[in-house]
Amino acid sequence: MSLPANRRIFNFSAGPAIIPEPVIEQAQADLWNIQESGIGICEHSHRGDHFQRVLIEADIDCRKLADIDDDYAIIFLQGGATTQFSMVPMNFLPENGTADYLDTGVWASKAIKDAKLFGNVNVAFDGSRNNYRQIPDSNELSLTEDAAYTHYCTNNTIFGTEFHATPASKTPLIADMSSDIFSRPVDIKSHALIYAGAQKNLGPAGTVLTIIRKDFAERCEREIPAIFKYATHIEKESCFNTPPTFGIYLVGQILKWILREGGLLALEQRNTAKAQMIYDAIDNSEGFYSGVAHPSSRSLMNITFRTPSESMDAMFLEEASKRQMSGLKGHRSAGGLRASIYNAFPKEGCDALAEFMQEFAQNNG
Ligand SMILES: Cc1ncc(COP(=O)(O)O)c(C=O)c1O
Repeated sequence: MSLPANRRIFNFSAGPAIIPEPVIEQAQADLWNIQESGIGICEHSHRGDHFQRVLIEADIDCRKLADIDDDYAIIFLQGGATTQFSMVPMNFLPENGTADYLDTGVWASKAIKDAKLFGNVNVAFDGSRNNYRQIPDSNELSLTEDAAYTHYCTNNTIFGTEFHATPASKTPLIADMSSDIFSRPVDIKSHALIYAGAQKNLGPAGTVLTIIRKDFAERCEREIPAIFKYATHIEKESCFNTPPTFGIYLVGQILKWILREGGLLALEQRNTAKAQMIYDAIDNSEGFYSGVAHPSSRSLMNITFRTPSESMDAMFLEEASKRQMSGLKGHRSAGGLRASIYNAFPKEGCDALAEFMQEFAQNNG
């Protein structure tokens, strides 16, 4: 498909995903010349005043947005969220210790696999038993009394399930929020560590936003390279080595965009209304579409569903593509269809998809 240079289509991709258009426009200008310095953002030294201003503003805006106090450090890391799967146990799981993990999907399982390289893992909830359709209630968790921490994933990008409440845990709570960070207010104080790969709600792939309680970061006992220690990055304020400067810049611009849009409560309202349109199209289809996630665990960010057959799923994708809708194919491990509607995804795109779903069901049901 070739389109005129200024045309964009509805991008339902799960990640890398849509970025707010005003942010892309600002980035175009700043790539050329940022802060009237005569130098583009990617060309500035990370130790220079211009990039330092970007970093400081990102820190201030992030604190304002999610009400984060001084007990917590905000650090930018690289290597994607996947690097966190090993950095977390490397720092916080002693060799003879145990960590609790909630297995609610593919990414949570990958985190478990890496943690097992460093110590004992207690799978406190095994979602594979119900094909990852459902998020557990706190009373379904088999937690360990003296676990080093409890790790969970707030939104399961592949299966389209999301925690609607913070799980109760007496041990330090660690969350992978890669696919729903800042889509709604965040319960910072219940967590010792939150990490999020940027490529869904925050910017470009590779950059990771990490919010960590400073005293928790000090608990690392293992001798590990400095680059893998959270405490190093806190001490060096995200500039231990050359940080992903453009990624951090873009995250900073997106934080400013969220603040301009009215903050996390406003986004939550908008995201709820957007998701409702598509869930209604599933629920009102008289069984033509089936939702993958249990209704009580439905995600606001990734909506997973199927038509009556795989061949019809393929037809759905083909016809959607003719209507300028892309990225609706489900993940290879889950199959079916998936609409990812992150913060920047417009309501008009949800309208268009819901209308198309209705029409497709009428013509093929
Ligand atoms: C919830 C979640 N965690 C972790 C990852 C892995 O992120 P990355 O590819 O940036 O390592 C993803 C990727 O989509 C994800 O959705």
